[in-house]
Amino acid sequence: MINPIPQSRHILLGVSGGVAAYKACELVRGLTKAGHQVQVVMTTAATHFVGPATFQALSGRPVATDQWQPLAANGMDHIDLVRAADALVVAPASADCLGKAANGLGDDLLSTLVLARGAVPTVFAPAMNREMWANAAVQRNVQRLCEDGVRMAGPASGEQACGEVGEGRMIEPEHIMLELEALFQPKALAGRRVLITAGPTFEPWDAVRGLTNRSSGKMGWALARAAWEQGAEVTLVAGPTALPPPYGVRLLPVETALQMRAAVLAALPGVDALIAAAAVADWRPSQAHAGKLKKQPDQQPPVLQLDTNPDILAEIAARPDAPYCVGFAAEADDLLANAQAKRQRKGVPLLVGNLGPQTFGRDDNACVLVDAHGATELPRASKLELGRRIVSEIALRLPSCSKPHP
Ligand code: C5P
Repeated sequence: MINPIPQSRHILLGVSGGVAAYKACELVRGLTKAGHQVQVVMTTAATHFVGPATFQALSGRPVATDQWQPLAANGMDHIDLVRAADALVVAPASADCLGKAANGLGDDLLSTLVLARGAVPTVFAPAMNREMWANAAVQRNVQRLCEDGVRMAGPASGEQACGEVGEGRMIEPEHIMLELEALFQPKALAGRRVLITAGPTFEPWDAVRGLTNRSSGKMGWALARAAWEQGAEVTLVAGPTALPPPYGVRLLPVETALQMRAAVLAALPGVDALIAAAAVADWRPSQAHAGKLKKQPDQQPPVLQLDTNPDILAEIAARPDAPYCVGFAAEADDLLANAQAKRQRKGVPLLVGNLGPQTFGRDDNACVLVDAHGATELPRASKLELGRRIVSEIALRLPSCSKPHP
């Protein structure tokens, strides 16, 4: 089952010494804006990069910096602060901080409260020079922390404060927030590969015109995030949308239905589940003109000839080596009957039906899940919440389903 997401969580943020400490300010701002309560703990090194007063102003709470000058009268900050936390995030996590945590050392407030974390879900966002990150000792420490159940978020690749380019940058604050939320999701898809199609397709007629539809891609993006949160390795094959690339997911952008089919077939080996959320154009112009078709005075309008696009989902579902296939149906009316008929027609074990005009472009949706046993209604909710429900339903069905059974 999905854990309910409380309105507000107590987040304990450890800031260790690194230039990326300034980005932790943005993280505090993002977390408090999202309604969470943030308690900041800084190492002495961190205070050389950003003053505690900044974090105090952003979090609305005094910042803990020294175990010998505790916030609490009993002097037990390293226990009290972590006991009160729903999650612990260390961002930036320096090489020193990772090393202490991996080896059970506690010589300051942050390292001792990391030791005292118990079962509090914990994520580290490492940040350091690329050579430091690549160092065998650091990698050993990272490995050990992962084995100890710590979630390692990043680092990212790119330009570094030292002027070098490589892996070691702290991931962006908005992505740390996604990692934090993922801590609270079940990991029902750990070790699974999920392939998702999303968005519309664009079928060119000439250099500037083409056929498309009003799919925004939001449902596919939500499914991709939900599958990633639950531990899957996710590939998202998406037609043109206005959405930013999703975090933690391999995005394969395509334009046409034929390109989408080719990308899906190429990504298919080893996939456990295919979720076809794309609104694939049923037809494409028979001829795609290289230039722009010019309008001539007194000329009859041109006749647009169409060819039928391949049905990607039905084709994959019919393969003997088909993964668990999930279809979507955007209907205009009679949702249940149409969804059930479409599930049979497509030859898929699970189909998600929704009413097209009530979902295209919106951030929320309502749908019905249809399988061989009947229908389950999912009432209107955000697309992310629905994505989480749908992905959980898929995860429940995966182990027992070696072959689709329409
Ligand atoms: O037939 P219809 O377009 O309503 O079917 C919708 C379902 O089939 C969706 O899951 C969609 O992603 C998938 N589909 C596909 N290839 C097509 C048309 C639809 O994979 N050419």
